[in-house]
Amino acid sequence: MNLINDLTLDFVQLARIGLAGRQQDIQLLLQRFSKKYNNDYPEMAFSLSELLRESPSKSTPLRKSNSLPLPVDIDSRLQLIKIDGAVLDNEIILSKNIEESLNQVILERDKIPSLAMKGLHPTKSILFTGPPGVGKTMAAKWIASKMERPLLVLDLAAVMSSYLGKTGNNIRYVLEYAKNMDCVLLLDELDSIAKRRDDSSEIGELKRLVTVLLQEIDDWPSSGMLIAATNHPDLLDPAVWRRFEMVLEFENPSIDKIKEQINNLLFQDLGTESITWSEILSFNFLGKSFSEIERQINLYRKSAIIENVNLVSKLEMAISTKNMTKDDKADFACALYKSGVVSQRKAHEITGVARETIRKRATANKKN
Ligand SMILES: Nc1ncnc2c1ncn2[C@@H]1O[C@H](COP(=O)(O)OP(=O)(O)O)[C@@H](O)[C@H]1O
Ligand SMILES: [Mg+2]
Repeated sequence: MNLINDLTLDFVQLARIGLAGRQQDIQLLLQRFSKKYNNDYPEMAFSLSELLRESPSKSTPLRKSNSLPLPVDIDSRLQLIKIDGAVLDNEIILSKNIEESLNQVILERDKIPSLAMKGLHPTKSILFTGPPGVGKTMAAKWIASKMERPLLVLDLAAVMSSYLGKTGNNIRYVLEYAKNMDCVLLLDELDSIAKRRDDSSEIGELKRLVTVLLQEIDDWPSSGMLIAATNHPDLLDPAVWRRFEMVLEFENPSIDKIKEQINNLLFQDLGTESITWSEILSFNFLGKSFSEIERQINLYRKSAIIENVNLVSKLEMAISTKNMTKDDKADFACALYKSGVVSQRKAHEITGVARETIRKRATANKKN
C-alpha cells in the first residue's frame, strides 16, 4: 500500500514539473525514481534509465528534448522551419543604438521577477528592418546564443505557398510549435507576405493571413522570443508593425564600422598591419553592406592562397582608382596620407598621385 502511495505522489510530482517544462528537474527525478523503484519494479526502472540515456544533454538541448516532430507542410511534407544551432562565424558589429537595445533585451531576461513585481514583462517581440546583408539574421543568432537557446527560422519567402489559406495554416503550425519550446523564433523575410498584395484577386485571403499572423503575435508568450526581419518595412501592414514591442533599423555600415570589419577579417592574415589595410580599403566600401564587404575581402584572401602570392600584393592590386577622376584620386591619396597609417610614399604608390600634390593638398586642407 505504501508503495502505491509513493508511486501516486511521485507520479503527481512528475506531472507538475513536466507541465512547468522544467526539463532538467524531470531528468533528476527520473534518475531518482529509477533507483528507488529498482527492487519493486525493475522493468520500469530499466526503461526509465534507458530513456535517460537517450535523452538530450545540455549541449544538445533541442534534438531530442522535444518529442514533437518538426512542423511540415501538409502536402509537400517539407520541413517548414530550420534549426540554426550554429555559432557565429564572425564577431557581429553593431551600431551603438542597436547594441544598447539588444543588450537591454538580454539583461531583461535576468530580471524577470523584479520586472513582474512592477507589472512589466521582458521584451518578447522585435522587428528588424534594413537592407540585405547588414546583420538582421546574424543578430537573431546572436540573441539566441546569448539566451542559450536554439534559433528556429521560418523563412516566409519559402513558405508562401500558392494557396494562401495553406500558408496561414503553416504559419500557425510553426508558431504553435515554437511557443512550446525554449527557443528564439525568427520570421525571416516577413515582407514576403505583403508582396503578394499586388495581386488583387487574393486580397481577401491575404487579409486572413495577416489576421492569423496578428493573432499569433498577440498570443506569443512572454517567455518566448519572437524576432521578425524584413528588407522592405514599407510593404508591411502598419498593424503588423505595431504588434512588435521593439523595432530596430539596421543600416549599411559607417566608415568606422567598415574599418572594424575589415580589420577583423584581415587580422588573422596580416596581424597588426590589418589596421593599415582597413584604413586604406575602407574608402572602397562606403555604401556597401557588411556581407558584400566580407565576400570581397574573402575573395582577396582566397585568391592569394590559390595563386600562392602575398595577400598584401593582392590588396594593393585591388585598390581601384580606375574610375576616379583626377581630383577624386588626389582626395583619396590625401585621405590615406592623413589617416596617419599610410606614408606619403605609400599613398603615392597606391594611387599614383604625385607626392608633391599629396603634400600640397594635405596642408591646404589643414588650413581650411
Ligand atoms: N553587423 C554585422 N557584423 C558582422 N558581419 C556581418 C554583419 N552583418 C552581416 N554580416 C555578414 O554578412 C552575412 C549575412 O548577413 P545577414 O545577417 O544574413 O544579413 P541580413 O539578414 O541583414 O540580410 C553574415 O553571415 C555575416 O558574415
Ligand atoms: Mg537575413
